[in-house]
Amino acid sequence: MKVPITSEISGHKAVRDALRKTEIYSSDLQGDADVRDYRQIPLEIDPPRHHLYRAALMPYFVRPAVEKLIPQFEKMSQDLLSNFFAQEKGEVVSELALPLVMENLGILYNRPQDVSEWIGWGPDVWTAAGPVRNGDVLHGYLDRVYQEAISEPSEDIWSQISQLVIEDKVISPIEFRGIAGVLLAGGRDTVVKLLTGIIWHLGEHPEDIQLLRAQPELIEGAIQELLRFLTPLPAMARTTTPESSTSELPLDRYTQINFISGNFDESVFANPYAVDIKRTRNPHLSFGFGPHTCLGNHVAEIEAKVFLKALLALDIDWKILSQSHIKFYGGQMTSVPDHISALWVAKS
Ligand code: HEM
Repeated sequence: MKVPITSEISGHKAVRDALRKTEIYSSDLQGDADVRDYRQIPLEIDPPRHHLYRAALMPYFVRPAVEKLIPQFEKMSQDLLSNFFAQEKGEVVSELALPLVMENLGILYNRPQDVSEWIGWGPDVWTAAGPVRNGDVLHGYLDRVYQEAISEPSEDIWSQISQLVIEDKVISPIEFRGIAGVLLAGGRDTVVKLLTGIIWHLGEHPEDIQLLRAQPELIEGAIQELLRFLTPLPAMARTTTPESSTSELPLDRYTQINFISGNFDESVFANPYAVDIKRTRNPHLSFGFGPHTCLGNHVAEIEAKVFLKALLALDIDWKILSQSHIKFYGGQMTSVPDHISALWVAKS
């Protein structure tokens, strides 16, 4: 998001309270101002207008709609996992997680023809063309698919979104950029971290592989626990002055809402610095809370469940190699990965 943060809200209760109070902690802000000048929608707008966009997008993301895709997700996970583990050793982020997440988005959005292009952007679309952050690659793609959608509509999500009507008006090309951009970004690095983190954790803790194979009913809880522990999106900004309300914007308007602090709050989670796949009560904040709660939460959970089941069914074990690049948090959280840029594994 890259905005200058001057204060922070942390702790499970305080974070949940703040996320409910959109009139005090507003999402009406311009993120990534170095690479874009439009709002990501519905992420960067407040209720009541936020509800209109969110309701229009909801049908693609409700659980029954996503569950219909499970057979296709299963085939993709099985194929990519067996190819990956056919090698003696491999790198999970670039050879498995990113391609799989992009293939799954291709299924969800009915855009299989774009998957290689999305993979080619690498882990961060703003640096797809080089080390300096730049929006040209993403915006070139979004403008092209918008033109295609309005001139030759088809059965894909871009065609449907280009025709969305909000308050009696068909959305503009800029609104299309804002919606399609966040739909591509939201389900990308986050799910890549979750799937990579699953392989990392189980590689370091083979006893949990045995437990999940013996008691598959623990799989759903294990995914919730890994979502908590990995917190793929650790924080988001809010502004105390909605940016479209005035041109007199105080410099200290940004507050960081620290989801990860809620996930490691010892008053809610016993022994939070360890992964406990048998944890029963798990009100984690990894998908946020309140009106902006992740729209893709069912997609992420279903992708992870399908992936984990396919991984366990392979009936192999693996170990994590020391050439991996994992940055851990500091302080009490030295067991918790902040960023996994490369995870090398070998069959054991
Ligand atoms: C493990 C995976 C994921 C995590 C941890 C995650 C996390 C989050 C969080 C914390 C928010 C709230 C942001 C805020 O309050 O400002 C959010 C919002 C959002 N996410 Fe996700 N997300 C994940 C996967 C996905 C997927 C798969 C999609 C779509 C395919 C998606 C699309 C969105 C969208 C559109 C929003 C904005 C919702 C709104 O503003 O109403 N996310 N996500």
